[in-house]
Amino acid sequence: MPAKSGLYIPPSDKYETIMMPGALGGANYGNTASDPKNGILYILTQEHASTYRLNRVEPPKIDLSENQVAQIKSFYASTCQSCHGKDMEGGIGPALVNAGQYIFYTEFKDVIISGKGQMPGFTHVSEETVQALYRYLGGIPRNFNFPRGAGEATLPEGPVVASGGATIPPDAQRAAPMLDYPKGVAHPADRYITDYGTEWTGLAAPPWSSILAYDLSEGTIKWRKPVGQDSLYVQGDPTKGAPGGTLRKGMVITSTGVVFATAKGGKLYAFDADNGNILWETTLSHEVNAQPIMYTLNGKQYLVINATSNFTRDSYDHSKKPGALPRGYVVYTLPNKP
Ligand code: HEC
Repeated sequence: MPAKSGLYIPPSDKYETIMMPGALGGANYGNTASDPKNGILYILTQEHASTYRLNRVEPPKIDLSENQVAQIKSFYASTCQSCHGKDMEGGIGPALVNAGQYIFYTEFKDVIISGKGQMPGFTHVSEETVQALYRYLGGIPRNFNFPRGAGEATLPEGPVVASGGATIPPDAQRAAPMLDYPKGVAHPADRYITDYGTEWTGLAAPPWSSILAYDLSEGTIKWRKPVGQDSLYVQGDPTKGAPGGTLRKGMVITSTGVVFATAKGGKLYAFDADNGNILWETTLSHEVNAQPIMYTLNGKQYLVINATSNFTRDSYDHSKKPGALPRGYVVYTLPNKP
C-alpha cells in the first residue's frame, strides 16, 4: 500500500497512521519548569511516534450453546415475555434488547430475583439461568459470586496480600464498557476504536528523551541534552536518551543556575542552567516517578528525590547492586555558597 503523508490523515481500519508526536510524545505531567527572571523555559520531552489503526467494534459474542439459547428462549417466553414483549421490544416493562450492555450484572440479577416497581421478583431462578440470560442480552457477566473453596489456599492470619498469583476467572476480566450505544440513541451502524498506539517505542530516531531550555525572549532553543537510560534501546549510551525517559519525571531549578532533573533508569542530573553542561549526575537505587523537591533548613539547601518505584523490565535494576540504598526518599545537601 502506497504511503500517504500530510497533516490530518484520518485513522482507518485499512491502513496504519503514524502520528508524531504520539500519545507519549512531547511534555507530559510535571515536565516543565521555568526561570522567570531570565525568561527560560525548561522542558523534559520525548520523541515518540504512535501508530494507530482502527478496529471495528464487534457486538459481544453471546457465547452460549444452541441448547442454552433454546432454554433461555423458552424461559423468557414463559416468565418475562408477557411484560417485556415477544422480541424484548418492551411492553409493561422496558425493552430488554442488549440490556446486558448497559445494566451491570449484579443489578440485573437483583432486579430478577427481587423485582422492581411493578415487576415481581423471581426468587426461584437459578444463578446459571440469570447468567445465561444476561449473556443472551449481550452482557458479559462480571462481579460473579464465584464459588469459594475449590483450589483456594487457606491464608494465614494477618495482612497477607497474596502469594503465587491469583487466577482470574475469565468472566472477571474487564470487558470494554459501552459496547453498544444506549437504546434509543441514533448512531452509525459501524463503530471503531483504537488504542494509544504506543507499542512502537523506538520508532522515532534518537535521542528519544531530552531536556530543552527555551529562551522565551529570543524564541530560540538555548540548549538540548539527551536524558535517561535503559537496557533495551539506549544500552548505556548517554547520547540517545531513553524512550519513555521523561515520563513522570521532573525538574527543580536553583536561583544560582542549576537544573536538577530526573529521568528514566534512576538518573538524576544537575545541568548548568546556562549551557546544559552536566555538572553532576548519579544513578539512584530505585526509579523516580515524582517531582524533585527543594527546601532550606538552617541555611542549608536540600534536594529531595522520591526513589521508590521499581525499575521497568527494559531498565537496569540498580536496586540489587552492591551498596544500593533502600527504597525511599533520597535527600542530598547542596554545597554551601563559597
Ligand atoms: C409483571 C410484568 C413483568 C414481568 C413478568 C417481568 N418484568 Fe421485568 N420489568 C417490569 C417492569 C414494569 C419493569 C420496570 C421497573 C421499574 O423501573 O420500575 C421491569 C424492569 C426490568 C429490568 C430492568 C430494566 C432496566 O432498563 O432497568 C430488567 C433487566 C427486567 N425487568 C428483566 C426481566 C426478566 C429477565 C424477566 C423474566 C425473568 C422479567 N423482567 C419479568 C415488568 C415485568
